[in-house]
Amino acid sequence: MSYKVERLKVNYKTLEEFKKFKEYGVQELSMLEDLQENMIENDSDSPFYGIYFADTLVARMSLYEVDAKFDRYFEPQQTYLELWKLEVLPNYQGKGYGKALVDFAKGFNLPIKTNARMKSQGFWEKMGFHALAYDMARDLSENPLVWQPEEKKA
Ligand code: COA
Repeated sequence: MSYKVERLKVNYKTLEEFKKFKEYGVQELSMLEDLQENMIENDSDSPFYGIYFADTLVARMSLYEVDAKFDRYFEPQQTYLELWKLEVLPNYQGKGYGKALVDFAKGFNLPIKTNARMKSQGFWEKMGFHALAYDMARDLSENPLVWQPEEKKA
């Protein structure tokens, strides 16, 4: 099964769809404020990518490119993608939507770092990610997992 992954636009419809996701917080609220205060244009690109089933956004993730000079995860330091807020609505889980989004992120051919919620560790391992040794100063409450494109693996 192949799904169409779309870059999500910042508009009132997208922001309404976001309310269905559990991980709804400051990032979504600040996008709403920016839109209301005309700080950003309607339909400008957001850091979110998602998959629609009919008119419903059923899966989404946020991606952000972090410059090599801020990298604390890879050796040597490199530019990577931070992937967060990967979430599939409950009725749509287990149908390949999560994998489709992760595969899309891998398509940028940059290393990826994410922070696994405890119960999703098995999913990330299946996606080829591996857990880094916990470093308290760096990780605090995070549980970092990383993936690297083939040619970058040691
Ligand atoms: N642990 C272990 N393996 C998992 C898993 C999990 N929690 N979730 C999915 N998998 C496996 C699937 O069995 C599938 O394997 P297969 O290719 O051999 O069939 C593969 O990973 C891809 O699964 P997919 O259908 O793409 O997963 P998904 O669309 O449900 O997305 C999450 C995965 C975790 C992003 C999604 O379920 C989600 O948002 N869950 C809610 C939040 C959460 O973290 N839940 C954890 C489980 S309680």
